[in-house]
Amino acid sequence: MNTKITSEQSLGQIVTKYPSLSGFFERSGIDYCCGGKETLREAATEHHIDEAELIKRIEKELEGIESFQSDEIIWENRPANELVDYIVARHHVYLKQNLPDAEAHLRKITEVHSELHPNEVMGDEKVITRLPKLLNAFLEVEASVLKHLEKEENEIFPAIKSGKVGVVDEALKKGILQLQEEHTELGEALENIRHLATDFVLPEWACPTFAATYKLLSGIQVDTHKHVHLENNILFPEL
Ligand SMILES: [Fe+2]
Ligand SMILES: [Fe+2]
Repeated sequence: MNTKITSEQSLGQIVTKYPSLSGFFERSGIDYCCGGKETLREAATEHHIDEAELIKRIEKELEGIESFQSDEIIWENRPANELVDYIVARHHVYLKQNLPDAEAHLRKITEVHSELHPNEVMGDEKVITRLPKLLNAFLEVEASVLKHLEKEENEIFPAIKSGKVGVVDEALKKGILQLQEEHTELGEALENIRHLATDFVLPEWACPTFAATYKLLSGIQVDTHKHVHLENNILFPEL
């Protein structure tokens, strides 16, 4: 594949051009959504990876995915209206389905495992305190995400679709800045959940519901990174 990845490109630009690379950055722990303005050089320094080595790994990754993902949509070439519809249909619907599911699972494992083995260790504390902490952190995220989606669907997205794009609209600009701040807070809150959930590595006493809970939580984090990338790095900068 003839790719031109350079150290000066931002992570957001790279994933915009090659959406399949989101998986590579996810696995490497490199934040391409809220941290999308960072250049590849800055990311390499931050993660203590040699710049040339990082580019080599990305190019190798692209060779592997090119053959079966050539039909992916390059959103920067599409109208904002279409991207808005895609974000709602793909990512908002996903969250509205999966957040309540994850909540039900978390409530269940918190109740069952706090009783079955309260003194087993999770990370640096006992199950009896760690699981309620994880549940509470999740409930806070769930409540704020649902409000955030509502704001996008009822205020900002209709304004974008009504053609206010390109017009200097102070209220719209302020609304978008607010959404971007919420994305940063959400990214941090999801990282905290990952930490509380021991990086989604299952304890040996985990039951199938516990495994399903971690799968849901990690899925929500990965999907949210793609979602925030589309909004922060493609949709909003165009306005
Ligand atoms: Fe959204
Ligand atoms: Fe958003």
